[in-house]
Amino acid sequence: MTQPSRQPRKRIILGAYLGGVNHHTVWSAPEADSQIAFSSFRHLAQTVERGKFDFFFLAEGLAIRERLGRFFDQDVVGRPDTLPVLAALAGVTEHLGLIGTINATFNEPYELARQLSSLDHLSDGRAGWNVVTSFDAFTGQNFRRGGFLHRDDRYVRADEFLTVARQLWDSWPEDAIEADKESGRFLRPEHADAGRFAFSGKQFEIAGRFTTPRSPQGRPVVLQAGVSPHGRDFAVARADAIFSPFHRLDEAQEFYRDIQRRAARAGRPPGAVKVLPSASFVLGDTEAEAAERQREIARQQVSGRTAQILLEAVWNRDLSGYDPDGPLPDVEPDVEGPRIIQGRAVIHQDARQTAAEWRELAEAKGFSLRELAIHLFSRTEFVGTPEQVADRLDSFVQNEGSDGFILGSHLTPTGLDEFVDRVIPLLQERGAVRTEYTGTTLREHLGLPST
Ligand SMILES: Cc1cc2nc3c(=O)[nH]c(=O)nc-3n(C[C@H](O)[C@H](O)[C@H](O)COP(=O)(O)O)c2cc1C
Repeated sequence: MTQPSRQPRKRIILGAYLGGVNHHTVWSAPEADSQIAFSSFRHLAQTVERGKFDFFFLAEGLAIRERLGRFFDQDVVGRPDTLPVLAALAGVTEHLGLIGTINATFNEPYELARQLSSLDHLSDGRAGWNVVTSFDAFTGQNFRRGGFLHRDDRYVRADEFLTVARQLWDSWPEDAIEADKESGRFLRPEHADAGRFAFSGKQFEIAGRFTTPRSPQGRPVVLQAGVSPHGRDFAVARADAIFSPFHRLDEAQEFYRDIQRRAARAGRPPGAVKVLPSASFVLGDTEAEAAERQREIARQQVSGRTAQILLEAVWNRDLSGYDPDGPLPDVEPDVEGPRIIQGRAVIHQDARQTAAEWRELAEAKGFSLRELAIHLFSRTEFVGTPEQVADRLDSFVQNEGSDGFILGSHLTPTGLDEFVDRVIPLLQERGAVRTEYTGTTLREHLGLPST
């Protein structure tokens, strides 16, 4: 066991996510419960608030997944809208930040800025927005203008979206409301124009008056998830933090350094843009027990059928005829045909290159199709005794892998209970996480400047 160090450490930022609709969530486990019931959201949020986490986080899916036009029931299917869930959680938590993933492509800035500002009011300054920029036409069909956005325009829209949202959030001065019951005057006369805005750009041409007075944080905390060069530049220009998929130390460090370099070039002070990978963990009383548990969980998460489907997302071919315990498909991805899997965020843009890289990896490691899928998609990097997991999380952050983590587990909603009970006290002992909340807003929790 590592002794608690006397040296001051960089504090680890911690967020928690509730398993959404993907193969990480083992919905068939006996102790698993609903991904929709409020009791599940409440359980996780209250548990991690007990562990003094910085925030609770929700991903988003705006379309039901399909494979070859049929329901996609390898995964949990269906999830509720983010904002009502976060608003309800604001009522049963006191300190925890509440961050929602919400698309900049399919929403309208006036509406969303208003909703986020309302969440900031309801929660006394705990609201955050993870901006995603999915553009796929399949999801777009569910919305007014259909799949209207070209891939190249997704960050143009996101950029304008954020500009407008900021204008709206800033449109009410902090002291605009006088509410003097004697005189009957509500707005201070010098702020008679509170809420006025006008914006003209490629994506939006809007003007009017914002309905929502300035919220406790002024502007909700903004995260960004998207790792293309364009996405990275957008993040360092506009966001307070990045939700990243890189949880293996070498690739995480490379990403971290790249973000710091880009942020410096964009004129942001060091540490202004936090990097937060998604991560999960498996604990055991001994190292061997944890490793055995991890193997079991990974095989529950990635069945032979799930492995084929995970690869189909890149190959864009029916791979059900390929033995999961055999080699990777010997055909090339079909990059011309219609997408056979719909409704999953498209992260691998160049399918042929991805397939070539995966083949090389499988060959080098001697992986079967399923073993490769487990290696690529099981996401669990932190496996061991509570002491080992605390150690590794801490050294990952101290060694510039990230500024913290957004932690999830394979089990909804109780999967983080043992983390809070067994790992948090060890991290607290070494000063790597807080023992009490010192601020009230999410900005304060994250050490971000006020707006
Ligand atoms: C870590 C991570 C999490 C994401 N989560 C979501 C999500 O919850 N919902 C969603 O619609 N898209 C999600 N996306 C997809 C992004 O919105 C985006 O469409 C995609 O990454 C393409 O942007 P890029 O080319 O800049 O990477 C996520 C992407 C990353 C990297």
